[in-house]
Amino acid sequence: MSAALQMTASSALLEVNNIEVVYNDVILVLRGLSLSVPQGKIVALLGANGAGKSTTLKAISGLLKTEEGAVTRGEIRFGGDRIDGIDPHVIVRRGIFQVMEGRRIISDMTCLENLRLGAFIRSDKEVTRDIEMVYSYFPRLKERTGLAGYLSGGEQQMLAIGRALMARPKLILMDEPSMGLSPLLVKEVFGIIRKLNEDLGITILLVEQNARMALSVASYGYVMEQGKVVLDGTAEALASNEDVKEFYLGGHGAERKSFRNLKSYKRRKRWL
Ligand SMILES: Nc1ncnc2c1ncn2[C@@H]1O[C@H](COP(=O)(O)OP(=O)(O)O)[C@@H](O)[C@H]1O
Ligand SMILES: [Mg+2]
Repeated sequence: MSAALQMTASSALLEVNNIEVVYNDVILVLRGLSLSVPQGKIVALLGANGAGKSTTLKAISGLLKTEEGAVTRGEIRFGGDRIDGIDPHVIVRRGIFQVMEGRRIISDMTCLENLRLGAFIRSDKEVTRDIEMVYSYFPRLKERTGLAGYLSGGEQQMLAIGRALMARPKLILMDEPSMGLSPLLVKEVFGIIRKLNEDLGITILLVEQNARMALSVASYGYVMEQGKVVLDGTAEALASNEDVKEFYLGGHGAERKSFRNLKSYKRRKRWL
């Protein structure tokens, strides 16, 4: 183990070290991915569609198992303990909760029923109090008594985050919370993400294609491409990095060139 690795291992809540992920025994998607999330921080994981961001989150939460995926190399540590290969419900009990892409609330249940579902690992006593805590962050959810399927996109995203809070997580993995939301709602949701981090000290690994928003709340960020981290740095450094600006912040439209081909791009070999 290198000196750098040893140092981060002792200070980070989550350590992903050089993992490889394979689906269906053959499809290699993550090719030696490493990242680290310090206790109490928001870390952004950026990258174009198909880069492997959701796969990374599922590797951490254990949900890969439900998709015939597996971590075949490297290791994932949470609070110092290995968690790769452990069942997802055990990982939830350890304190990691993933808010899935596309929100995945249960549409034919009410808001309240969805929230109670998030607390499945806990005893009833604290649940009522926690529901009030969730409502204090998302007052609109309290007013919605109908089925969750009738909520707006923004409200569904809020419910998905609220449900995660009900599990009292130490670490929330958020997969593209801005997806499909209006700019105004994106702002609102990110404001709440920042508040949850500040008020409750919840550590957050935030996957986003909306790099500008993600870097505005995160303290550190990683950019991934084709299953690997190609660049990382403080949020300020990334936000002012010319390559990141050109690729993610410049508004060059959907036709993006490969990050690897950008002129000033230098591959970092931090973990090798
Ligand atoms: N269950 C799966 N089985 C096989 N391949 C998958 C599966 N899920 C994702 N992939 C592939 O892995 C790659 C990365 O996907 P994903 O992690 O969803 O990327 P991102 O979230 O960055 O858009 C894609 O090429 C995708 O087709
Ligand atoms: Mg994804």
